[in-house]
Amino acid sequence: METRLDEIAERIYRLSTFLPTVGPSGFTFNQFLVDADEPLLFHCGQRALFPAVSQAVARVMDLRRLRWISFSHVEADECGALAEWLAAAPSATVTHGAIGCAIWLNDQAPRPPRALANGEVLDLGGRRVRRLDTPHVPHCWDAGLLHEETTGTLFCSDLFTHVGDPPALTDGDILGPAMAAEQQFGYTAVTPATGDTIRRLAKLAPRTLAVMHGSSFTGAAAPMLEALANFYDDLLQKMTPPR
Ligand SMILES: [Fe+2]
Ligand SMILES: [Fe+2]
Repeated sequence: METRLDEIAERIYRLSTFLPTVGPSGFTFNQFLVDADEPLLFHCGQRALFPAVSQAVARVMDLRRLRWISFSHVEADECGALAEWLAAAPSATVTHGAIGCAIWLNDQAPRPPRALANGEVLDLGGRRVRRLDTPHVPHCWDAGLLHEETTGTLFCSDLFTHVGDPPALTDGDILGPAMAAEQQFGYTAVTPATGDTIRRLAKLAPRTLAVMHGSSFTGAAAPMLEALANFYDDLLQKMTPPR
């Protein structure tokens, strides 16, 4: 197992491990490292991935420099290796939204977490991440995303998930493959709030979408997010039986 390392925005690194046996055509599991005075890792990966992913991080910095560890929601690919990361990085603190701390981290984290309010900014020194609560988007009550405001990078977790082992970064279409994956796997908790939650993200006008499974995207991301919101609105309508 090998983890590939790519800089997808200035001092923002994508760590990507391709598992060829997951799904019909393999699947990438991506974490993101924000290199700043107080470096932050977004997503931990599963415990089995920790040796490969941590070796890739060590190519950028000493693991002990990590100050923050965060993730979108409680699932193995998002936070399975949390304990391993906290053990390797003694100065690191895990940070998540208030719900995630209440329902999981206050009980399960090896060290006390730092809860971030919706909209709260964490100043990393040279980079700034803003916490955005997105309950049930893509799934799980505790779900939230981070927006790095210096580079305009939205860490969008499972939004835009697509299969295979495509390039680290593309300015091409990731919406088509993402809609196909949604129709295949049905991984999003589609509710009447889904479309509007994604439209709120579009208003940030991010320049890079850091995607957890598949290629990250560079370019005009707002129209892509608007189109994704419309796709989920349509999907909800098709799911809802007529009265
Ligand atoms: Fe997930
Ligand atoms: Fe995921």
